[in-house]
Amino acid sequence: MRSRMIVANWKMHKNLAEGLHLAAELGQMLHACTPLIGQVVLLPPFVYLHAIAQLLATAEGLPIAVGAQNCHEYAAGAFTGEIAAPMLRSVGADYVLLGHSERRKYFREDSTCLAKKVTVALSHGLRPIFCCGEHEPTATASSREQFVAKQLSESLFHLSAAQMEQTIIAYEPVWAIGTGHTPMPCQIQAMHQWIRRSVAHHYGEQLAQSIPILYGGSCHANNAPQFFACPDVDGGLIGKASLEATSLVRILNALV
Ligand code: PGA
Repeated sequence: MRSRMIVANWKMHKNLAEGLHLAAELGQMLHACTPLIGQVVLLPPFVYLHAIAQLLATAEGLPIAVGAQNCHEYAAGAFTGEIAAPMLRSVGADYVLLGHSERRKYFREDSTCLAKKVTVALSHGLRPIFCCGEHEPTATASSREQFVAKQLSESLFHLSAAQMEQTIIAYEPVWAIGTGHTPMPCQIQAMHQWIRRSVAHHYGEQLAQSIPILYGGSCHANNAPQFFACPDVDGGLIGKASLEATSLVRILNALV
């Protein structure tokens, strides 16, 4: 069975004290509701990733891991202000979010750069959570698929099967991020099924069936149950609704 997963993308929110408080609160709440289905991955800002990882290391047995919101495409070098994959590993990160639409838009990350980031992350033991998704809500199903196909083939399908097995895909329609609008559950299912088929086309059915594909974009406690009930939706990439422990735990409990 595929792993189920909720990824909390804190973006540029919370200071150290608030971040620690949220992680601790979450740990306590998860203790109270075990057994749990699924893994929680917190993506705090770089500067207190280590502190959060250390705090969670004391919460033994809880399915909470830590990841970063980005990494550089090289493993080391003269890149002032940047953070490399091995550095993230050394402070306790297990995952890294790559290809988020905000990185593509505001920091001009293109497919070539993302392909390098995915490779460098995997080479240093980080599991990439790779985001893809179309811009327009009005796009037809086939134009949405073409758009996502290009993102996957340009940045992901150069990976070996062993590397692909470690990768998580997040389908995030850009128009749904932070807007309160979402596709219908049947549209999300259709896209996830289509993404899984393209993975199968390149890597075989068995590998495709093992890859978690998450939905992201205005996913919250009230709509998560409908999304997570779709057979090819293995969890969520959550922005705003992940900034509060009660809301995140409700989303986690929506995993089936
Ligand atoms: P949102 O953000 O849940 O606030 O829409 C999701 C994301 O950007 O990953």
